[in-house]
Amino acid sequence: LATIEVDLSSIEPGQRVTVKWRSQPLFVVRRTPEMVAAAVADDLNSGLLDPQADAERVQRPEWLVVVGVCTHLGCIPLGQRPDEPHGPYKGWFCPCHGSAYDVSGRVRRGPAPRNLHVPPYVFLDDSRIRIG
Ligand code: FES
Repeated sequence: LATIEVDLSSIEPGQRVTVKWRSQPLFVVRRTPEMVAAAVADDLNSGLLDPQADAERVQRPEWLVVVGVCTHLGCIPLGQRPDEPHGPYKGWFCPCHGSAYDVSGRVRRGPAPRNLHVPPYVFLDDSRIRIG
């Protein structure tokens, strides 16, 4: 489907949910205040490989929505399930060649060159988004 709606109402703080969009996994994260604070605190970190402020990547700080495809060669990064490694920056870890992403989906360790892609989406109300 080109456009999907995601119901956010059952997603708990800190929970990560994967949905499918255009044959790709989409990562939806309900970020805790601590996760948001950590992301914002790194906005000016010189270790950002693709510098971008957290606020440029989200519409509401609590909700991160990114395409779950590593920007190196397209593997699916680990970190969505609680039993998977989140990597050293507490976001995602790509098992293919070791790229690491933070809780904003920004790449912090290569070889991936770019941050996880933010898809086009809109909030339909406080608990629903439409992606695509
Ligand atoms: Fe993710 Fe290479 S595909 S690091």
